[in-house]
This record gives sequence, structure tokens and C-alpha cells, in this order.
Amino acid sequence: MLRTVRATRYVVPLREGGSLPAIVEADDLGLYVVKFRGAGQGILALIAEILAGEIGRTLGLRVPEIVLIDIDAALGRNEPDYEIRQLLKASTGMNLALDYLPGSTMFDPAARDTAAADEASMLVWFDAFTQNIDRTPRNANLLVWHRKLYPIDHGAALFFHHDWPSREKKIASPFVEIEQHILLPWAKGITQAAKVAHERLTEPVLREIVELVPDAWFEAIPGDVSASERRAGYMDFFTRRLEASAVFEEEAIGAHSRLV
Ligand SMILES: Nc1ncnc2c1ncn2[C@@H]1O[C@H](COP(=O)(O)OP(=O)(O)OP(=O)(O)O)[C@@H](O)[C@H]1O
Ligand SMILES: [Mg+2]
Repeated sequence: MLRTVRATRYVVPLREGGSLPAIVEADDLGLYVVKFRGAGQGILALIAEILAGEIGRTLGLRVPEIVLIDIDAALGRNEPDYEIRQLLKASTGMNLALDYLPGSTMFDPAARDTAAADEASMLVWFDAFTQNIDRTPRNANLLVWHRKLYPIDHGAALFFHHDWPSREKKIASPFVEIEQHILLPWAKGITQAAKVAHERLTEPVLREIVELVPDAWFEAIPGDVSASERRAGYMDFFTRRLEASAVFEEEAIGAHSRLV
């Protein structure tokens, strides 16, 4: 189960985020980065944050804690900014939040940030598995905090769910976009990372992850697919993509060797 907190104060918007995420304080006195369900990206981005984020955590990557955050209609009432007020209004109810890492910076090789081979390889494997295109030098979505790496922003992963019937075609995709991955130069241990990933992503573990998404979020997706059918669909994607993993592992290993 994901922890649930209640928003108590809208602190400040994170202007760099395309989905207007914001720092919000909650009733446990923690600060969180909230991804609002009323934002343009919609509910699928929040579902991808949970599914991909928790898969990353299972793989040993330091994804900041993900919680559900309840937003009351009163929260935005006195917000002077019209756009923020509308966003909060459209997001009343359950939203998604990540533990806020104060003082973190974005991973930047030009600032001499580096990554360990095993960690880089696992992140590359993870992004190829979940088909996340958002880990490029232009937008690393990889925070450095106390000199450790924290992957964030998995809202664009699992792209197939924007076109549910396309799942079948995407399962065995080599994911050629991996050549743009910011950590590819360090990823010299993809074979070993793959071995660890396969050991960890067992069917019961994946099933538990798929259970973390609130039913109401699946039910909010337009279309005539029930929450349990959605869950089964993600399970089918994950288990069959694991079976077909050689195709994206070979692609990533090839892309790495072309770099070095
Ligand atoms: N947990 C966190 N701790 C500290 N800062 C964060 C955290 N999560 C996000 N940020 C900051 O907020 C920015 C926007 O967050 P995020 O990338 O998740 O949103 P987004 O709307 O999907 O952004 P975009 O589409 O522009 O990549 C990040 O680039 C980062 O600077
Ligand atoms: Mg981002």
C-alpha cells in the first residue's frame, strides 16, 4: 500500500515542469512534489509514475518515496494565480506526490556528475523495460542529492497505455530510443543488471505493484476497460516484456558499445 497524506499548504510551483508540479506541505509536515491529476498529462501519467516508479524501486534504484496525497477544495481557494487555482480545483481528491529532495540538482555530465557502472546499467535496463524516453541529456529527470542518484518523472513511461490495443506490438519492442539515454556511456554492465532485474521482478512482486494504483484512477481512463482488466493488461505487458527482454537488452548493449 502507498502511504496517504493530506495536503495542508501549497508552497510553490516548480516552473520547469511541463505538468505544473508543485511543492506542497502535508499533514505529516513533509514536503512533497505533487503531480496533479488535473494537469494536462492526465491520469495516465500518474499511473505510469506509480507503476514505473515502484518497478524502479524494486530494482534497487533510489526513486523518492511515492505517496497518494489528498487535496481538499479549500487548498486552492485563496491562491492568487488563476492557473494554479484552476489546477487545484481540477485536482480535488487523490493525487500523486514524491518525497521532495531539497537542494538536489539535475544530473549533468558537464558538471562532472558521473554514475557507477552497475547503477547506470540498471537505470538503462529499467528505462528500456518501461519504455521511458524521458532520460536524455536535454531532460535527465535524474536528481543528484547528497552525491547519490535519484530517478524521477516516470509519467511518460509505459507509453502503450495511451493506445491500449497497441500493447501487443510494444511488448517486444527493442526500444531504439535507448541510444539517447543520459547514463548509456556508463552502462557497461547491462547483462549483469538484466540478470538481477529478472530475479527481482517476479510475478508476485509485479502483481503487488499493479495493485498499488487506486481503482478510481483506472476507472477514470476513458474507454470501456474495467480496473481489473487494466491490471491484467499491465501484468500481461510486464511478464511478456520480461520474456522478450533479450531484444531490448541487445539493443541497449549495442547502443552502449557504439558510444565507447
Ligand atoms: N522529488 C523531487 N525533489 C526535488 N525536486 C524535484 C522532485 N521531483 C521533481 N523535482 C523538480 O521538479 C521538476 C519537474 O518535475 P518532473 O520532471 O517530475 O515534472 P514534469 O512536469 O513531468 O516535467 P517535464 O515534463 O518538464 O520533465 C524536475 O525537473 C525537478 O527539478
Ligand atoms: Mg521532468
